[in-house]
Amino acid sequence: MTDQDSASTDTTTAEEDAAKRLAALPLRDELRGQHPYGAPQLNVKAMLNVNETTYDVPEDVVDAITKEVRRASATLNRYPDREFTLLRQKLAEYLNRDLVSDGASADLTADHIWAGNGSNEVMQHILQAFAGPGRTVMSFPPTYSMYPLYARGIYSEYIAGTRSPDFTQDPQDVADQIRQHRPHVVILCSPNNPTGTALGLDVVEAAYEAARESQTMVIVDEAYGEFRQPGTPSALQMLPGRPRLIVTRTMSKAFALAGGRLGYLAAAPEVTDALRLVRLPYHLSAVTQATACAALDHSETLMANVEKIKLQRDRIVTELRRLGLTPAPSDANFVFFGGLVDKKAAWEHLLADGILIRDVGIEGHLRVTAGTEEETTAFLESLRRHLQTQRAGAQNHKG
Ligand SMILES: Cc1ncc(COP(=O)(O)O)c(C=O)c1O
Repeated sequence: MTDQDSASTDTTTAEEDAAKRLAALPLRDELRGQHPYGAPQLNVKAMLNVNETTYDVPEDVVDAITKEVRRASATLNRYPDREFTLLRQKLAEYLNRDLVSDGASADLTADHIWAGNGSNEVMQHILQAFAGPGRTVMSFPPTYSMYPLYARGIYSEYIAGTRSPDFTQDPQDVADQIRQHRPHVVILCSPNNPTGTALGLDVVEAAYEAARESQTMVIVDEAYGEFRQPGTPSALQMLPGRPRLIVTRTMSKAFALAGGRLGYLAAAPEVTDALRLVRLPYHLSAVTQATACAALDHSETLMANVEKIKLQRDRIVTELRRLGLTPAPSDANFVFFGGLVDKKAAWEHLLADGILIRDVGIEGHLRVTAGTEEETTAFLESLRRHLQTQRAGAQNHKG
């Protein structure tokens, strides 16, 4: 037995023991046999698997955050501002600038804003308030794989809608599916994870209209909104007059603040009042509020990297096409691509070169985060080598 064999046997035994101890607990039935959500966190040179910003936080932003966190530290003996008032004001101002860049009017105030520890928590608040036992949550796979897990966590039934074979969504089809299922909450993901493509506002409009009769809450998850292509508007401009529409965003992606854990949403003020009913007291720590406020004060510095990432994203799409693969159009900081004969072999080849990307469980497809120019080059070159070897192997086999 090699050292590696004995190490893996030890791990298996440890895992089996842990599984037995877990099984002995009076766990909820639907959680039995389930695995926690989470992508690998490996120490490799290019971590391109969870759509983070791979640039470090710029020095001046680090300094500003440190200063604000230090200030907040002096009053950590007290509970934080439960209403995170300053943060909500800054988020409203930030979104208003986004609305203006779309040529829309900037009408958001702090009353329209809610925030949580990541947009995952924000989403959980929404579902706790509007779904729950005996109610249903619908989204359209392939999409963000946490949606069914949120539903499970709050005892709601999950309804998997469908998409066109090219993974796009047609307004009429989305409307028909909502009319058929009459879910309590429907989640549209735009730009969609893992496919990367944004929805036109016609799809959001059609979904909202179809949802009127069933009084369905419509969420548009814009976690990657800042990366959208020019001319692709945000659903934020649709909020006025639509009290059941919610647009969620996060500081984890464009703001390079995944570790800060700050997600937020814009909606009618009565929606944020509903969320106050389900949030835990003081859910946003003073440190989180200080960190997010400081980052928002430096949004322009942080957005400079967004432009650089968009360039690499577009470069990946162009180069993958040249390699004979089929990347989906991307409005996000990642690219979903198909045309792989053996996605597992491609993923393993990249990992052996120190490049970690994401297998989202779709045949022939993988997803890669757009990183720095250097990381992108390393990814493209490694993949090119893999395809060359593989195609040469196929030729030899034929010959
Ligand atoms: C579509 C989508 N929504 C929400 C999230 C959650 O992000 P966070 O909780 O970091 O804000 C992610 C994370 O990858 C995502 O891809």
